[in-house]
Amino acid sequence: MKWDANLYDNNHSFVSKYGEDLINVLGPAPGEIILDIGSGSGDLADLIVKRNVKVIGIDNSREMVEAARNKYPHIQFDIGSASNFSYDIKFDAVFSNATLHWVPDYEKAITCIGNALKTGGRFVAEFGGKGNVSNITDALKFQLISKGYTAVAESPLWYFPSLSEYTTLLEQKGFRVTFAAHFDRETLLKGDDGMKNWLIMFGKSYLEKLELNVAEEIINRVENQLRATNFKNGNWYADYVRLRFVAIKV
Ligand code: BEZ
Repeated sequence: MKWDANLYDNNHSFVSKYGEDLINVLGPAPGEIILDIGSGSGDLADLIVKRNVKVIGIDNSREMVEAARNKYPHIQFDIGSASNFSYDIKFDAVFSNATLHWVPDYEKAITCIGNALKTGGRFVAEFGGKGNVSNITDALKFQLISKGYTAVAESPLWYFPSLSEYTTLLEQKGFRVTFAAHFDRETLLKGDDGMKNWLIMFGKSYLEKLELNVAEEIINRVENQLRATNFKNGNWYADYVRLRFVAIKV
């Protein structure tokens, strides 16, 4: 899937905004070397660098990496997969915001991250937890099935684990989990077309399997269906549920 870095920055800047709070949980100490997995257009990597640390950003989207390199030429951004990467150096911390739900090989990702960290290094991340955007995915599946696109509706898309599932994996792979939380974060989607824009941006992997006119019809139907649950006082909201944790490599 190709990412449109401009659309991402213009309409979905909330992704980086919430990430700023996660940087405080990361607590970068001057002189540390930190890996940002899923660095996107580079905004959070740049904020982390401002704490006097060295950051390497890695992202599997060429478009995003190019956009990040243009915006922040002083930072190293690499194209790479969260579940298949290695560096010659060991990091003090691995940081990741709103990325790990896109990684189908989530167990391999935890293994790679463990290998990349120094002993005592921390893995601080947030991504979609169990129940994330369930109103949206239920509506999308319902509309796809009602139009006969059952195979598309059933294709796996995101990984939204429960707190116990993910922290158990972390422990099995050599981490000590010192903090974990699973919480709701209803998220404002800017503008009258907020939900449509979200579906176009993030539902692309589903929708690009359809003819353009069918995709447009599905988007309209999903938006109509979601009006009852996700449109409040004139604004669209995504029913985000987050999983946030701090895990130490033992
Ligand atoms: C999320 O950040 O929770 C998310 C983003 C895009 C698609 C699905 C989930």
